[in-house]
Amino acid sequence: MFQVVPSIFAADFTRLGEDVRRVEQAGVKMLHVDIMDGHFVPNFTMGTPITESLRKFTKLKLDHHLMIEDPDTYAPIFIKAGADCVSVHYEVCRNLDRTLHMIQDLGAKAGVVINPATPVMLLENVLNIVDYVLVMSVNPGYGGQTFIPRSLDKVRQLVRYREERRLNFSIEIDGGAGLENIAEIARAGVDWVVAGSSIFHAPDATQAAREMQRIAHEAISIQV
Ligand code: DX5
Ligand code: ZN
Repeated sequence: MFQVVPSIFAADFTRLGEDVRRVEQAGVKMLHVDIMDGHFVPNFTMGTPITESLRKFTKLKLDHHLMIEDPDTYAPIFIKAGADCVSVHYEVCRNLDRTLHMIQDLGAKAGVVINPATPVMLLENVLNIVDYVLVMSVNPGYGGQTFIPRSLDKVRQLVRYREERRLNFSIEIDGGAGLENIAEIARAGVDWVVAGSSIFHAPDATQAAREMQRIAHEAISIQV
């Protein structure tokens, strides 16, 4: 089912709780939590204390995107802290099948992420395992970048693959999504659209999230 997933990377960390309540009021079901280690990407974000605080503060699902070199060590720690969904980058996993099963065995949903330069076909042998695939529509590490349009070709490829093989994974996209391209993104078949700056840097985050959901649902219903 289609949903907008606000990325707290773009929130105001001095009033994170207020920003979370704003998007809760818009009816979102999940928050995107970007974990960066300064190695896999040239930036840092947050650690488990934020996950623990969020877990106590909200009932929203917590979708953790691990942009880190060593997901095998840290995925269990974030799951223990309260992560519901954990995605790991294809580019860093030497034993991807094992890592995905480990995440699921610990009770979380397991996702695999591909960077803009990584082709979908490399996922062929894990699409029957994963709960979701995250297609990066920017190079990871920063918010507020420009959406890479060819990411939607990857989404369409995944939709075809899912139909042909009768699989169930969800398709998520991350980076550069906003009011101007949400209709096209939804029409391509994306299930979860991550949005950071287009929600939290808008004058009214509740209204921005609602508007994105509205435009997307309209785009999908017109298509059918
Ligand atoms: C980028 C992160 C994104 C980021 C998206 O590396 O993975 O989740 O928060 O931000 P926007 O929506 O501003 O492109
Ligand atoms: Zn992300």
